[in-house]
Amino acid sequence: MLDEINMTPEQIKGIKRIVITACGTAYHAGLVGKYVIEQLVRLPVEVDIASEFRYRDPIIDKDTLVVVVSQSGETADTLAALREARRRGARVVAITNVIASSVAREADDIIYTWAGPEISVASTKAYTTQLVAMYLLALYLAQERNTLAAGNIKEILGELKSIYAKAQEVLDNAAPVKEFAQQYHRSEDTFFIGRGLDYAVALEGSLKLKEISYIHAEAYAAGELKHGTLALIVENIPVIALATQQSLFEKMVSNIKEVKARDASVIALAMEGHTEVAKIADRVLYIPKTHQILAPILTVIPLQLLAYYMAVYRGCDVDKPRNLAKSVTVE
Ligand code: AGP
Repeated sequence: MLDEINMTPEQIKGIKRIVITACGTAYHAGLVGKYVIEQLVRLPVEVDIASEFRYRDPIIDKDTLVVVVSQSGETADTLAALREARRRGARVVAITNVIASSVAREADDIIYTWAGPEISVASTKAYTTQLVAMYLLALYLAQERNTLAAGNIKEILGELKSIYAKAQEVLDNAAPVKEFAQQYHRSEDTFFIGRGLDYAVALEGSLKLKEISYIHAEAYAAGELKHGTLALIVENIPVIALATQQSLFEKMVSNIKEVKARDASVIALAMEGHTEVAKIADRVLYIPKTHQILAPILTVIPLQLLAYYMAVYRGCDVDKPRNLAKSVTVE
């Protein structure tokens, strides 16, 4: 049910491009949204950090659909970006968790994420529900613009409806993540690598680790490593390699070999059945098979757990991460 999307079929057909803007974790959900909307709806999508977008004299007009993502619906930069987009004539869809928040009140259309009150300061379930909202928006646009066959839409929706059971499986089988955290919690630097959707999730994984365990983490598009930062891959540095995307799997295997050749310690996340990764990585956590496009919903869970266990082993208070506010209403 997308009963707060009020766009007419003509308005949906008139969209020429989409701009997604948000901050922090919500921005990372937007990055997943870019891959998904481009793939399913075949419209160009840009993702911009709200504090950059609002001061950048952005090129948007009435044919641009702007999607703002905000758990709280009160983030000052995101709200200002929304106002700037509307001032320039764009239609704005808000993806938010808080009913009647400022963002919800000022947007043209709303998708509520229904995550319930978010207690944890570091965002977790908000991210997951923002992903689901992105999938629903992409599928709706694809349906209205006829860019995806009805059977494919049904297949993805069916998988989305039952994915909670696979999320539970990931939680139940996360022992390798705990062991990895126990072994490497004293590390001061870590790398997250991935391609495509996995790269977008890697960015969120590295943010979580930084936020609650205060370990320096870099997320890299795996193909970029050789353009400079391979020099930082040294003996025993923990590398979290995301390899859930079937179409990019072989490329990821090469990237894992690159870091293993420099003696990094690799934990890989791969889809069930991709057992060859076990021959090169030190540890592998298998993600239950799902539609490749939905993998981020499952892949982020071990990364959130990794941040949690690392923080606990380091003696950090995960409920009160330092210098982190639930809602940033200042600029
Ligand atoms: C994530 O763990 C943080 N809490 C932070 O990055 C957050 O996502 C960001 O401040 C945006 O908040 P919002 O979704 O409420 O707009």
